[in-house]
Amino acid sequence: MNSKAQNMQMKIHLIVGARPNFMKMAPLYKEFCKYPEKFSAKLIHTGQHYDERMSKFFFDDLQMPKPDEYLEVGSGTHGRQTAKIMERYEVVLQKDKPDLVIVAGDVNSTSACAIDAVKMHIPVAHLEAGLRSFARTMPEEINRILTDAISDYLLTPSLDGNKNLIEEGVPEAKIFFVGNIMIDSLLQYRSRAAKSDILQRLKIKEEYALITLHRPSNVDNKKGLLIILNAFENISGSIKLIFPIHPRTRKQIRKFGLDEKVKSMQNLILSESVGYYDFLKLQMEAKFIMTDSGGIQEESTFFGIPCLTLRPNTERPITISQGTNKLVKLNTQDIIKEAQNILSGNIKAGTIPKYWDGKTAERIVKIFSKKA
Ligand code: UD1
Repeated sequence: MNSKAQNMQMKIHLIVGARPNFMKMAPLYKEFCKYPEKFSAKLIHTGQHYDERMSKFFFDDLQMPKPDEYLEVGSGTHGRQTAKIMERYEVVLQKDKPDLVIVAGDVNSTSACAIDAVKMHIPVAHLEAGLRSFARTMPEEINRILTDAISDYLLTPSLDGNKNLIEEGVPEAKIFFVGNIMIDSLLQYRSRAAKSDILQRLKIKEEYALITLHRPSNVDNKKGLLIILNAFENISGSIKLIFPIHPRTRKQIRKFGLDEKVKSMQNLILSESVGYYDFLKLQMEAKFIMTDSGGIQEESTFFGIPCLTLRPNTERPITISQGTNKLVKLNTQDIIKEAQNILSGNIKAGTIPKYWDGKTAERIVKIFSKKA
């Protein structure tokens, strides 16, 4: 491309940092790349998640190129991690001067990079805007509120997002209902995921429930963790449980001396965290799912698999009103009761929300095409 053509391109940074960002940015990156005359997109990876299993596995499965910039921030306290991201991304912004920065979701990388960009007067688009759990004790809620407050383009996955933003006084002209971009990735890779041999590798032939757990409110204190593990112990008497474990949770189980308790549950299959195809396969084939993740509430709604969310709230209420999700209080008996309810055939039917259709990246690129 000659330099005149390059000058006409809109230079865009797509920020990724933690595992749930990768399946949101991959389809958008690919869609921008279809129009090289209009857009030049760069992938910036903060390095918030750095383990092979939390990052590279996903880049590989999602067929993403190596990031253009890798900031290597790693783990740390919220203050330290956020500060490191801001310090390092600012240098990239000064060098590159993009026309637009797109951040996704609610992780520390999201708010840190958004703050950097707006302070340099670079427009910011927030992918997955408007979601609210209304629980400010959750770090993600702070990241959502901060990022939405300073972004120029608020790209919402569902209409409850529009409603929340309007109630907070955001001008409607900034809000774009684009749909759920995670479903773009899911639809693109669903048939490959169906061929994953993860069940053979885990030697699972029978029915199972799938578990994930990583929220600080569930795993960072021994009491909460025990409430949940005691429920799993009981439920594993009725059905096999598969538990791909997040590094934070593994660390906390060790710290609280609960390793032996987990190992002693014969019907609980503990595995390392798995890649994107393997995890989709585990969801598709599960009898039901118990999780505290945000994205899994959405994916299970799409697949029509019953999901018990082990949290007092959700920023994704549409998965309850329309989908297969149900909130369960942090109480051993409540968790057991809800699981037994599903096992006895009492299954909540759901529908797929509007614009969870695989075309969200297209809708977003159309918005920016008008500006390019
Ligand atoms: C982060 C996000 C959370 C998201 C989750 C998905 C924030 C505030 N939280 O939580 O919203 O749902 O990612 O996974 O941004 N660790 C590793 N290897 C890694 C990454 C982390 O071992 O590649 C361990 C470290 O011990 C680290 C801990 O996990 O201290 C927590 O990692 P961190 O990125 O701070 O938060 P998550 O719990 O992963």
